[in-house]
Amino acid sequence: MEQKYPLTYRRLRTGAAIRELTATVKLSHKNFIQPLFVDETITTPQPLNGLGDVRSETLSSVLHTVENALKNECNKFLIFPVPAHKHASAFDFSFAGKIFATIKNEFGSDVWLASDVCLCSYTVHGHCGILNDAHTKLLNDPTVKQLAAYAHILAQNGADCIAPSDMMDGRIAAIRKELDANGFDDISIMSYAAKFSSQFYGPFRDACSSAPQAHGLKDRKTYQMSPLNPGNAIASALRDESEGADILMVKPAAFYTDVIASLKQKTTLPIAAYHVSGEFAAVEALAEKGFCDRIAAHTEVWAALQRSGADIIISYASQHAKDWLQDINY
Ligand code: PBG
Repeated sequence: MEQKYPLTYRRLRTGAAIRELTATVKLSHKNFIQPLFVDETITTPQPLNGLGDVRSETLSSVLHTVENALKNECNKFLIFPVPAHKHASAFDFSFAGKIFATIKNEFGSDVWLASDVCLCSYTVHGHCGILNDAHTKLLNDPTVKQLAAYAHILAQNGADCIAPSDMMDGRIAAIRKELDANGFDDISIMSYAAKFSSQFYGPFRDACSSAPQAHGLKDRKTYQMSPLNPGNAIASALRDESEGADILMVKPAAFYTDVIASLKQKTTLPIAAYHVSGEFAAVEALAEKGFCDRIAAHTEVWAALQRSGADIIISYASQHAKDWLQDINY
């Protein structure tokens, strides 16, 4: 009998034109968000290890960075405020408010600004909330109360979106309630809905001096999710949806595409994938050693995130997405 198989699938790979024609993953820079760090303790911008050209910004340098990003058609930002003073419980969110007021005052609705909402850069011990006296336990409800107050201040100063990354229970409902009660019902919430306790946040914790300290509670495992229990992550993401989240985030992203894919089956909300600092720095380090082409490696990661079901990508190179995607090598 005449052999019909194997089929020649390689016909669709014979040249760039046919590969371009048949590409179904189509990325747009319009779906990207650029993280920005603004640090009250510095007077000139500081480079950040592993994060490409992302720097720690001052209140004035961040305006130039935003202006340059806008030239590249990057207009969506996730702000990480780093306050000068750390406390155990009575936190001062005024610097964060000032960041939003300053950027909005300059750029108005030309920019969309989300804020990370967490206490890890505010606490003396680097944990994401208030600890008990013995430093053995993170207290859920007093932390949620602070987060809601924080969100309120950000909203008053022009934030378009609140992105809580603390991983307490009930914070989405509490923040939604606080915003609605104060006339901020059009401000969205992007929940860090499936945020895992990960080794890949290192460069970020350097940037925010937010690594948990060694006494008492050593790590974030009692509040961030276990990489060994994806079901718990899906359940809490859906819980955040029912509490009023508008966007669900999975973080880290590239090592958790299975979680993105299964969450996609269970929600109609947009899913954001955060290619976190350590994942990003890993690509940068490979490129530095000459083991890969930097831009092609980043765009390959982005394609993977989109294939798995991500609608929004948070990358430290979002401000280059337009250029890099335009020149994508089919
Ligand atoms: C704050 C927060 C972290 C990140 C985003 N928000 C660090 C952490 O949870 O320790 C990590 C982002 C990154 O690594 O790029 N809780």
